[in-house]
Amino acid sequence: MSVTAQSTPHTCDGCLDRREVLVRAGLVTVGVAAAGVLAACGGSDTPSDDAPAAASGGALAQVSDIPVGGALSAKDADGKPIILLQPEAGTVVALSAVCTHQSCTVAPDGDELVCPCHGSVYDLTGANVSGPAPSPLPEVDVHVSNGAVLAGKA
Ligand code: FES
Repeated sequence: MSVTAQSTPHTCDGCLDRREVLVRAGLVTVGVAAAGVLAACGGSDTPSDDAPAAASGGALAQVSDIPVGGALSAKDADGKPIILLQPEAGTVVALSAVCTHQSCTVAPDGDELVCPCHGSVYDLTGANVSGPAPSPLPEVDVHVSNGAVLAGKA
């Protein structure tokens, strides 16, 4: 007795033919690539997640965390990105970290505040130094109490 293989075409309701498998694989690949591009672009247009959220009790940061003559990324009480500056020991100033060009999050870089999206540069007072940003970074009201930086005026 011998068994011979028969080459009957595979038929299956619900199965995908080869062409459909290839088309669907291509769509998945395009979708994954698009998601990656959106994620890469979207990250710079949203507030930075690098800055610590406001601590419980309302403190945005401790004064001791802000370098004298320097800046620290933080978030305000609403979770919006801000930059805390300590131009002289014990004096804290806050600026919005939302770039006035297209709202990317500006970050301290040495003695400058730099926007990663299109290269606007601000000085440590928030004034424009270079780049396409049309106006300075606005000040945000903060005050110091017992070594903590708190939102709002004193
Ligand atoms: S969003 Fe900051 S330079 Fe364009």
